[in-house]
Amino acid sequence: MKPSERPVRVPDLQRKKTRGEKISMLTAYDATMARLLDAAGLDVLLVGDSLGMPVLGYNTTLNVTMEDMVRHTGAVCRGASRALIVADLPFLAYQITTEDALRNAGRLLREGAGGVKLEGGRSICPTIQRLVSAGIPVMGHLGLTPQSFHKLGGFRRQATQPEGAEALVADADALQEAGVFSLVLECIPYDLAERVSAQLHIPTIGIGSGPHCDGQVLVINDLLGLSGSATPPFAKQYANLGDAVVQAASAYHQDVLTGTFPSADQPEKKSSS
Ligand code: KIV
Repeated sequence: MKPSERPVRVPDLQRKKTRGEKISMLTAYDATMARLLDAAGLDVLLVGDSLGMPVLGYNTTLNVTMEDMVRHTGAVCRGASRALIVADLPFLAYQITTEDALRNAGRLLREGAGGVKLEGGRSICPTIQRLVSAGIPVMGHLGLTPQSFHKLGGFRRQATQPEGAEALVADADALQEAGVFSLVLECIPYDLAERVSAQLHIPTIGIGSGPHCDGQVLVINDLLGLSGSATPPFAKQYANLGDAVVQAASAYHQDVLTGTFPSADQPEKKSSS
């Protein structure tokens, strides 16, 4: 962190919305990526339970446990020094009892997270109120909520019909009332995201929900070209690290097979200059 840069805190996101400044958020799952994204100036790093797919190799987020989230949240917090870090509470870490939610959110804050994210609308508002009254900042998440994969029938666009849209607006109002400091809107119609963003005073952060949200989030693997055929259509790919990794690893493989690496003049130790 440069001396002039102070860490991003929860109230900074509200200030950004008030000033009409956009909020940038990306997922991060380990210390190296957190260090790089922090250096790039991101406002928020999300230790998403999406790590279940690219990092742990599952098909959905449902297998991700509190132990997974604690380990990866700690790693991201050790890697970043400026960005605000928000960590997902995984499936069944907050839906059974409020005590579970408090204890589990507390574990993520003890690792260094500045807030937690929960999926769901009006039904989880009592839990959110309890967390917020205990001093735990909560980010909400509506629309395509991956922990409800089976109920939703897959990863599909949500609230496309008037009834679903009205339900989402009511959920968004209730979450704001319950005290969330920000709200992720995933894969909902662009005009609905615009309406919710205009109606709420807290910032919205969109993914696959168009340009009118107060901020945007993407999964880092999608942005870097590491997701292959699993890249969602709304993600913009800013680099092709997948191909770069294959090229670099196969060049190394060839060098080892041919005895080209290490060469006799490969430095044995770090130069002192
Ligand atoms: O887990 C995650 O990465 C998320 C984002 C897609 C918003 O919840």
